[in-house]
Amino acid sequence: MTDPASSIELTDLEPTAADMTALVIEGLSKPQKTLPTAFLYDEAGSELFDAITDLPEYYPTRTELSIMRESLPQMAQAVGPEALVIEYGSGTGLKTRQLLRALQSPVGYVPVEISREFLMTSAAKLQDEFAQLEVLPVCADFTEPFEVPEPSKPARRRALYFPGSTIGNFRPEFATRLLRQMHEEVGKGGCALIGVDLVKDVQVLEAAYNDSAGVTARFNLNMLSRANAELGADFDVEAFRHRAVWVESRGSIEMRLYARRPTAVTLAGKRFTFETGEYIHTEDSHKYSLEGFAELANAGGFDVAQVWTDEAKYFSVHYLQAR
Ligand SMILES: C[S@@+](CC[C@H](N)C(=O)[O-])C[C@H]1O[C@@H](n2cnc3c(N)ncnc32)[C@H](O)[C@@H]1O
Repeated sequence: MTDPASSIELTDLEPTAADMTALVIEGLSKPQKTLPTAFLYDEAGSELFDAITDLPEYYPTRTELSIMRESLPQMAQAVGPEALVIEYGSGTGLKTRQLLRALQSPVGYVPVEISREFLMTSAAKLQDEFAQLEVLPVCADFTEPFEVPEPSKPARRRALYFPGSTIGNFRPEFATRLLRQMHEEVGKGGCALIGVDLVKDVQVLEAAYNDSAGVTARFNLNMLSRANAELGADFDVEAFRHRAVWVESRGSIEMRLYARRPTAVTLAGKRFTFETGEYIHTEDSHKYSLEGFAELANAGGFDVAQVWTDEAKYFSVHYLQAR
Protein backbone atom coordinates (compact mmCIF):
# COMPACT_ATOMS: atom_id res chain seq x y z
CA MET A 1 0.00 0.00 0.00
CA THR A 2 1.42 3.45 -0.87
CA ASP A 3 1.59 6.10 1.80
CA PRO A 4 -0.72 8.96 0.67
CA ALA A 5 1.37 11.53 2.59
CA SER A 6 4.54 10.65 0.64
CA SER A 7 2.93 11.77 -2.63
CA ILE A 8 2.38 15.35 -1.47
CA GLU A 9 3.92 17.95 -3.75
CA LEU A 10 4.96 21.27 -2.25
CA THR A 11 4.75 24.53 -4.19
CA ASP A 12 7.75 26.26 -2.66
CA LEU A 13 7.69 30.06 -2.72
CA GLU A 14 9.31 30.50 0.68
CA PRO A 15 10.85 33.97 1.09
CA THR A 16 14.67 33.82 1.09
CA ALA A 17 16.94 34.98 3.93
CA ALA A 18 17.85 37.97 1.70
CA ASP A 19 14.12 38.91 1.38
CA MET A 20 13.71 38.65 5.15
CA THR A 21 16.89 40.64 5.86
CA ALA A 22 15.63 43.44 3.59
CA LEU A 23 12.25 43.49 5.42
CA VAL A 24 13.88 43.48 8.86
CA ILE A 25 16.21 46.34 7.89
CA GLU A 26 13.29 48.30 6.43
CA GLY A 27 11.32 47.84 9.69
CA LEU A 28 14.20 48.76 11.99
CA SER A 29 14.93 51.89 9.89
CA LYS A 30 11.47 53.40 10.56
CA PRO A 31 10.99 56.13 13.19
CA GLN A 32 8.78 53.60 15.04
CA LYS A 33 10.82 50.43 14.69
CA THR A 34 8.91 47.35 13.52
CA LEU A 35 9.63 43.72 12.66
CA PRO A 36 7.63 41.81 10.00
CA THR A 37 4.84 39.90 11.79
CA ALA A 38 5.24 36.84 9.56
CA PHE A 39 8.79 36.55 10.96
CA LEU A 40 7.19 35.33 14.24
CA TYR A 41 6.59 31.98 12.58
CA ASP A 42 9.56 29.67 12.17
CA GLU A 43 9.22 26.11 13.49
CA ALA A 44 9.84 27.22 17.11
CA GLY A 45 7.45 30.17 16.69
CA SER A 46 4.70 27.95 15.28
CA GLU A 47 5.11 25.51 18.20
CA LEU A 48 4.90 28.40 20.66
CA PHE A 49 1.79 29.73 18.92
CA ASP A 50 0.26 26.28 19.19
CA ALA A 51 0.98 26.35 22.96
CA ILE A 52 -0.63 29.81 23.18
CA THR A 53 -3.89 28.46 21.77
CA ASP A 54 -4.23 26.23 24.89
CA LEU A 55 -3.60 28.98 27.45
CA PRO A 56 -6.46 29.85 29.82
CA GLU A 57 -6.25 33.58 28.93
CA TYR A 58 -6.23 32.98 25.16
CA TYR A 59 -9.96 32.79 24.38
CA PRO A 60 -9.88 33.10 20.50
CA THR A 61 -9.04 29.49 19.56
CA ARG A 62 -11.43 27.72 21.90
CA THR A 63 -14.20 30.23 21.16
CA GLU A 64 -13.81 29.86 17.39
CA LEU A 65 -13.73 26.07 17.76
CA SER A 66 -16.95 26.15 19.79
CA ILE A 67 -18.65 28.35 17.17
CA MET A 68 -17.60 25.88 14.50
CA ARG A 69 -18.77 22.83 16.44
CA GLU A 70 -22.16 24.50 16.86
CA SER A 71 -22.64 25.62 13.26
CA LEU A 72 -20.59 23.29 11.05
CA PRO A 73 -23.61 21.86 9.19
CA GLN A 74 -24.73 25.37 8.14
CA MET A 75 -21.17 26.31 7.18
CA ALA A 76 -20.82 23.16 5.08
CA GLN A 77 -24.18 23.79 3.42
CA ALA A 78 -23.19 27.36 2.60
CA VAL A 79 -19.93 26.26 0.96
CA GLY A 80 -21.58 23.42 -0.93
CA PRO A 81 -20.24 20.17 -2.46
CA GLU A 82 -16.96 19.51 -4.32
CA ALA A 83 -15.21 22.68 -3.22
CA LEU A 84 -11.52 23.49 -3.42
CA VAL A 85 -10.60 24.81 0.04
CA ILE A 86 -7.73 27.32 0.11
CA GLU A 87 -6.51 28.20 3.60
CA TYR A 88 -4.30 31.18 4.39
CA GLY A 89 -2.02 30.65 7.43
CA SER A 90 -3.10 27.06 8.03
CA GLY A 91 -0.92 26.35 11.12
CA THR A 92 -1.76 22.95 12.64
CA GLY A 93 -5.03 22.75 10.69
CA LEU A 94 -7.02 22.00 13.84
CA LYS A 95 -10.13 23.87 12.70
CA THR A 96 -9.60 22.78 9.11
CA ARG A 97 -10.08 19.14 10.07
CA GLN A 98 -13.51 19.96 11.43
CA LEU A 99 -14.44 21.87 8.31
CA LEU A 100 -13.16 19.22 5.91
CA ARG A 101 -15.05 16.49 7.79
CA ALA A 102 -18.27 18.48 7.52
CA LEU A 103 -17.93 19.44 3.83
CA GLN A 104 -19.52 17.28 1.15
CA SER A 105 -16.82 15.66 -1.03
CA PRO A 106 -14.27 18.52 -1.11
CA VAL A 107 -11.97 17.96 -4.11
CA GLY A 108 -8.82 19.57 -2.78
CA TYR A 109 -7.18 21.46 0.04
CA VAL A 110 -4.50 24.13 -0.46
CA PRO A 111 -2.85 25.14 2.83
CA VAL A 112 -0.76 28.30 2.38
CA GLU A 113 1.84 28.80 5.11
CA ILE A 114 5.09 30.65 5.65
CA SER A 115 6.27 28.18 8.33
CA ARG A 116 7.68 25.50 6.03
CA GLU A 117 8.40 22.54 8.35
CA PHE A 118 5.12 23.05 10.15
CA LEU A 119 3.28 23.14 6.83
CA MET A 120 4.85 19.91 5.60
CA THR A 121 4.14 18.04 8.84
CA SER A 122 0.56 19.23 9.05
CA ALA A 123 -0.12 18.62 5.31
CA ALA A 124 1.22 15.05 5.61
CA LYS A 125 -0.97 14.35 8.66
CA LEU A 126 -4.00 15.73 6.87
CA GLN A 127 -3.32 13.68 3.77
CA ASP A 128 -3.17 10.57 5.99
CA GLU A 129 -6.47 11.42 7.61
CA PHE A 130 -8.26 12.40 4.38
CA ALA A 131 -6.98 9.89 1.86
CA GLN A 132 -9.53 10.90 -0.82
CA LEU A 133 -8.63 14.56 -0.63
CA GLU A 134 -5.93 16.09 -2.82
CA VAL A 135 -3.66 18.08 -0.47
CA LEU A 136 -1.64 20.73 -2.34
CA PRO A 137 0.52 22.74 0.12
CA VAL A 138 2.03 26.10 -0.81
CA CYS A 139 4.87 27.56 1.24
CA ALA A 140 4.56 31.29 0.59
CA ASP A 141 3.97 34.70 2.06
CA PHE A 142 0.25 35.03 1.31
CA THR A 143 0.49 38.83 1.26
CA GLU A 144 2.13 38.45 -2.16
CA PRO A 145 -0.02 37.15 -5.04
CA PHE A 146 0.66 33.49 -5.85
CA GLU A 147 -0.72 30.85 -8.21
CA VAL A 148 -3.23 28.49 -6.55
CA PRO A 149 -2.43 24.88 -7.60
CA GLU A 150 -5.27 23.16 -9.46
CA PRO A 151 -6.58 19.84 -8.15
CA SER A 152 -6.84 17.03 -10.71
CA LYS A 153 -10.61 16.84 -10.16
CA PRO A 154 -12.30 20.13 -11.15
CA ALA A 155 -13.90 22.03 -8.26
CA ARG A 156 -17.46 23.30 -8.36
CA ARG A 157 -16.46 26.24 -6.26
CA ARG A 158 -13.43 27.77 -4.54
CA ALA A 159 -13.71 28.52 -0.83
CA LEU A 160 -11.13 30.62 0.99
CA TYR A 161 -10.73 29.64 4.65
CA PHE A 162 -9.02 32.19 6.92
CA PRO A 163 -9.59 31.33 10.60
CA GLY A 164 -7.80 32.45 13.78
CA SER A 165 -8.48 36.17 13.19
CA THR A 166 -5.20 36.30 11.28
CA ILE A 167 -6.95 39.01 9.21
CA GLY A 168 -6.63 41.17 12.35
CA ASN A 169 -2.83 41.11 11.95
CA PHE A 170 -3.20 43.58 9.10
CA ARG A 171 -4.12 47.25 9.23
CA PRO A 172 -7.64 47.69 7.76
CA GLU A 173 -6.31 49.20 4.47
CA PHE A 174 -4.06 46.19 3.98
CA ALA A 175 -6.75 43.74 5.11
CA THR A 176 -8.96 45.16 2.33
CA ARG A 177 -6.16 44.57 -0.17
CA LEU A 178 -5.84 41.00 1.09
CA LEU A 179 -9.59 40.46 0.73
CA ARG A 180 -9.38 41.69 -2.87
CA GLN A 181 -6.60 39.20 -3.52
CA MET A 182 -8.76 36.42 -2.01
CA HIS A 183 -11.63 37.59 -4.20
CA GLU A 184 -9.44 37.13 -7.26
CA GLU A 185 -8.41 33.67 -6.10
CA VAL A 186 -11.94 32.37 -5.49
CA GLY A 187 -13.47 34.26 -8.44
CA LYS A 188 -17.00 35.60 -8.82
CA GLY A 189 -19.42 33.15 -7.16
CA GLY A 190 -16.67 31.84 -4.86
CA CYS A 191 -16.81 32.24 -1.11
CA ALA A 192 -14.81 32.80 2.05
CA LEU A 193 -15.12 31.70 5.69
CA ILE A 194 -13.24 34.13 7.90
CA GLY A 195 -12.70 34.04 11.67
CA VAL A 196 -12.77 37.54 13.15
CA ASP A 197 -12.05 38.54 16.74
CA LEU A 198 -14.45 41.12 18.19
CA VAL A 199 -13.97 44.24 20.33
CA LYS A 200 -14.42 43.46 24.03
CA ASP A 201 -13.32 44.39 27.52
CA VAL A 202 -9.73 45.73 27.49
CA GLN A 203 -8.70 43.54 30.44
CA VAL A 204 -9.77 40.38 28.62
CA LEU A 205 -7.94 41.50 25.49
CA GLU A 206 -4.69 42.47 27.20
CA ALA A 207 -4.63 39.31 29.35
CA ALA A 208 -4.94 37.16 26.20
CA TYR A 209 -1.66 38.57 24.86
CA ASN A 210 0.21 38.89 28.21
CA ASP A 211 -0.34 35.40 29.60
CA SER A 212 0.84 34.64 33.12
CA ALA A 213 2.93 31.64 31.98
CA GLY A 214 5.00 33.88 29.68
CA VAL A 215 4.43 31.80 26.53
CA THR A 216 3.46 34.84 24.42
CA ALA A 217 6.60 36.58 25.67
CA ARG A 218 8.72 33.65 24.44
CA PHE A 219 6.82 33.67 21.11
CA ASN A 220 7.54 37.38 20.62
CA LEU A 221 11.19 37.24 21.75
CA ASN A 222 11.79 34.23 19.48
CA MET A 223 11.83 36.72 16.60
CA LEU A 224 15.10 38.17 17.88
CA SER A 225 16.71 34.75 18.37
CA ARG A 226 15.57 33.83 14.88
CA ALA A 227 17.10 37.00 13.39
CA ASN A 228 20.38 36.09 15.13
CA ALA A 229 20.34 32.45 13.96
CA GLU A 230 19.08 32.92 10.40
CA LEU A 231 20.03 36.44 9.36
CA GLY A 232 23.31 36.86 11.27
CA ALA A 233 21.99 39.64 13.55
CA ASP A 234 23.38 40.09 17.07
CA PHE A 235 20.37 41.09 19.17
CA ASP A 236 20.98 40.86 22.92
CA VAL A 237 17.69 39.02 23.49
CA GLU A 238 17.93 39.50 27.29
CA ALA A 239 17.90 43.27 26.74
CA PHE A 240 14.25 43.15 25.59
CA ARG A 241 10.95 42.33 27.29
CA HIS A 242 7.52 41.57 25.79
CA ARG A 243 4.41 43.63 26.42
CA ALA A 244 1.09 43.74 24.54
CA VAL A 245 -1.07 46.87 24.84
CA TRP A 246 -4.53 47.84 23.62
CA VAL A 247 -4.37 50.93 21.39
CA GLU A 248 -7.88 52.36 21.50
CA SER A 249 -7.38 54.81 18.59
CA ARG A 250 -6.49 51.89 16.27
CA GLY A 251 -8.80 49.28 17.77
CA SER A 252 -5.80 46.98 18.02
CA ILE A 253 -3.65 45.02 20.45
CA GLU A 254 -0.03 45.81 19.66
CA MET A 255 2.68 43.32 20.60
CA ARG A 256 5.89 45.11 21.45
CA LEU A 257 9.44 44.33 22.50
CA TYR A 258 10.72 46.99 24.92
CA ALA A 259 14.43 47.67 25.46
CA ARG A 260 15.20 47.13 29.18
CA ARG A 261 18.45 49.11 28.80
CA PRO A 262 20.38 50.90 26.04
CA THR A 263 21.26 48.29 23.44
CA ALA A 264 22.15 47.94 19.76
CA VAL A 265 21.96 45.41 16.96
CA THR A 266 23.99 45.02 13.79
CA LEU A 267 22.49 43.32 10.76
CA ALA A 268 24.06 43.13 7.28
CA GLY A 269 26.50 45.90 8.23
CA LYS A 270 23.77 48.26 9.53
CA ARG A 271 23.63 49.28 13.19
CA PHE A 272 20.43 50.16 15.03
CA THR A 273 20.42 51.56 18.56
CA PHE A 274 17.69 51.43 21.22
CA GLU A 275 17.25 53.64 24.25
CA THR A 276 15.80 52.30 27.49
CA GLY A 277 12.00 52.02 27.09
CA GLU A 278 12.09 52.24 23.28
CA TYR A 279 10.13 49.45 21.63
CA ILE A 280 9.86 47.42 18.43
CA HIS A 281 6.29 46.93 17.22
CA THR A 282 6.01 43.27 16.16
CA GLU A 283 2.31 42.46 15.67
CA ASP A 284 -1.12 44.07 15.37
CA SER A 285 -4.32 42.25 16.33
CA HIS A 286 -7.17 44.42 15.17
CA LYS A 287 -10.55 43.77 16.76
CA TYR A 288 -13.73 44.47 14.84
CA SER A 289 -17.42 45.06 15.38
CA LEU A 290 -19.68 42.93 13.16
CA GLU A 291 -20.64 46.07 11.20
CA GLY A 292 -16.99 47.17 10.91
CA PHE A 293 -15.96 43.83 9.45
CA ALA A 294 -18.92 43.84 7.04
CA GLU A 295 -17.68 47.19 5.68
CA LEU A 296 -14.21 45.76 5.20
CA ALA A 297 -15.58 42.65 3.44
CA ASN A 298 -17.67 44.86 1.17
CA ALA A 299 -14.68 46.95 0.22
CA GLY A 300 -12.92 43.68 -0.65
CA GLY A 301 -15.69 42.68 -3.10
CA PHE A 302 -17.60 40.30 -0.81
CA ASP A 303 -21.13 40.32 0.66
CA VAL A 304 -21.61 39.00 4.18
CA ALA A 305 -24.20 36.24 3.77
CA GLN A 306 -24.07 34.70 7.27
CA VAL A 307 -22.36 35.35 10.59
CA TRP A 308 -21.99 32.99 13.56
CA THR A 309 -20.87 34.14 17.04
CA ASP A 310 -20.61 32.71 20.55
CA GLU A 311 -23.06 33.79 23.24
CA ALA A 312 -20.70 36.37 24.77
CA LYS A 313 -19.96 37.80 21.29
CA TYR A 314 -16.22 37.34 21.80
CA PHE A 315 -15.53 35.93 18.33
CA SER A 316 -17.25 35.58 14.96
CA VAL A 317 -17.09 33.47 11.81
CA HIS A 318 -18.24 35.21 8.61
CA TYR A 319 -19.45 33.49 5.48
CA LEU A 320 -18.76 35.81 2.53
CA GLN A 321 -19.90 35.51 -1.05
CA ALA A 322 -17.79 37.00 -3.82
CA ARG A 323 -19.82 39.50 -5.86
C1 LIG B 1 -2.63 33.45 14.16
S1 LIG B 1 -1.94 32.00 13.46
C2 LIG B 1 -3.43 31.11 13.02
C3 LIG B 1 -3.19 29.65 12.79
C4 LIG B 1 -4.45 28.84 12.47
N1 LIG B 1 -5.00 29.22 11.17
C5 LIG B 1 -5.49 29.00 13.53
O1 LIG B 1 -6.58 29.44 13.21
O2 LIG B 1 -5.22 28.66 14.70
C6 LIG B 1 -1.36 32.62 11.90
C7 LIG B 1 -0.82 31.58 10.95
O3 LIG B 1 -0.56 32.20 9.70
C8 LIG B 1 0.78 31.99 9.27
N2 LIG B 1 1.20 33.24 8.64
C9 LIG B 1 1.28 34.46 9.22
N3 LIG B 1 1.61 35.39 8.32
C10 LIG B 1 1.75 34.74 7.13
C11 LIG B 1 2.08 35.18 5.82
N4 LIG B 1 2.32 36.46 5.55
N5 LIG B 1 2.10 34.25 4.83
C12 LIG B 1 1.85 32.94 5.08
N6 LIG B 1 1.54 32.46 6.32
C13 LIG B 1 1.48 33.36 7.33
C14 LIG B 1 1.55 31.65 10.53
O4 LIG B 1 2.68 30.85 10.28
C15 LIG B 1 0.50 30.96 11.39
O5 LIG B 1 0.47 29.58 11.16
